[in-house]
Amino acid sequence: MATVNENFLKLKAGYLFPEIGKRRRAFQQAHPEVKIISMGIGDVTQPLAPAVIEAMHKAVGEMGKKETFHGYDDDGIGYSFLREAISKNDFQARGAAIEPDEIFVSDGAKSDTANIQELFGLDSIIAVPDPVYPVYVDSNVMAGRTGPMAGQGIYQKIVYMPAVVENKFVPDLPTEKADMIYLCFPNNPTGAVATKAQLEKWVDYARKNRSILLFDAAYEAYISDPEIPHSIYEIAGAKEVAIEFRSFSKTAGFTGVRCAFTVVPKELRADSKTGQSVALNPLWSRRLCTKFNGVSYISQAAAAATYTPEGKAQIRDTIGIYMNNAKVIRETLASLGYQVYGGVSAPYIWLKTPPGFGSWDFFDLLLEKANVVTTPGAGFGPSGEGYVRLTAFGDPANVKEALDRISRLS
Ligand SMILES: Cc1ncc(COP(=O)(O)O)c(C=O)c1O
Repeated sequence: MATVNENFLKLKAGYLFPEIGKRRRAFQQAHPEVKIISMGIGDVTQPLAPAVIEAMHKAVGEMGKKETFHGYDDDGIGYSFLREAISKNDFQARGAAIEPDEIFVSDGAKSDTANIQELFGLDSIIAVPDPVYPVYVDSNVMAGRTGPMAGQGIYQKIVYMPAVVENKFVPDLPTEKADMIYLCFPNNPTGAVATKAQLEKWVDYARKNRSILLFDAAYEAYISDPEIPHSIYEIAGAKEVAIEFRSFSKTAGFTGVRCAFTVVPKELRADSKTGQSVALNPLWSRRLCTKFNGVSYISQAAAAATYTPEGKAQIRDTIGIYMNNAKVIRETLASLGYQVYGGVSAPYIWLKTPPGFGSWDFFDLLLEKANVVTTPGAGFGPSGEGYVRLTAFGDPANVKEALDRISRLS
């Protein structure tokens, strides 16, 4: 008899976004005439850049000719044309010495941030920010690295690091033992960024405690402050303690194309039970060879086009549209008396709910009275209670209309 993986039964029933969808559908059914505007799920709305489209057309043409047809990506870790462009533009240009053979191209940062935990022993203790992108937690629950739920969305055997207004939403170093530490900057959901000095503290902590930092930089393209590092590898010594995740999803609108990458430096090592020091780069390569067969040639050609001069300028323009939305959202809500955070170097705005309103109460109020969908902060962890997340990925006209409606509530 096959038995089920009991770890799945530990998962919190229902995931945040299905619950939001359920409430939205119920409201729409009851009020079919209403136009609901979504500022909830973090998906992009602007079309792909012309340089990307052109590269995709060209790649499709190549696939239609025997001489230029591409089958499996050679070793399933990404074409060298893309890995070289990433190494040069995303890292070397910022003084971070990341080589193409430390870069693994994938179909998404979601799968990579979920799968990376397979490299580590089940007795490794994970630490996550609270609130947090739920994938880090749920993937470790499924793997059996956590205990059961201990109420209020908290699992046993996870170290939660509160990201709250007092620490400007940048968690303090953990006081308990933490072996695998997930960090996300610019942050989803709070929109916070970490300074160089703050990241240095984390690298120093990881080096002293022989922990590994799992650094999710999916939103690095939104950083507007030149003093804020885009990569953990801009910090000296990070190559020995950090894995970094990147994605073309929010950088270049690839949520429906799918292309991302993960950096596993050659210097990065973890110990085996017998005390042997094991390099993680070949381990991740081995895992990919077994469980993954690469990203389509067309997606990789499209991703490479984001590094051409035209591609860079065009994706900058699109990011400019979203960041202008973020500015309008922040400034309008602040002028209405709301406390708002983030939205300066990130496409997320973290809004403190008015006194007496929990996250879901305020979500319901905005849905029912302004017909605007947000994301309740409580869905990202206990410290998210009392907040809702707004995304800046909407169409500017919709963003304006949503804000007009919210303004009329006050
Ligand atoms: C913090 C963070 N990491 C990773 C991802 C996933 O990105 P991808 O589309 O590359 O799977 C998201 C998507 O919303 C995200 O917010």
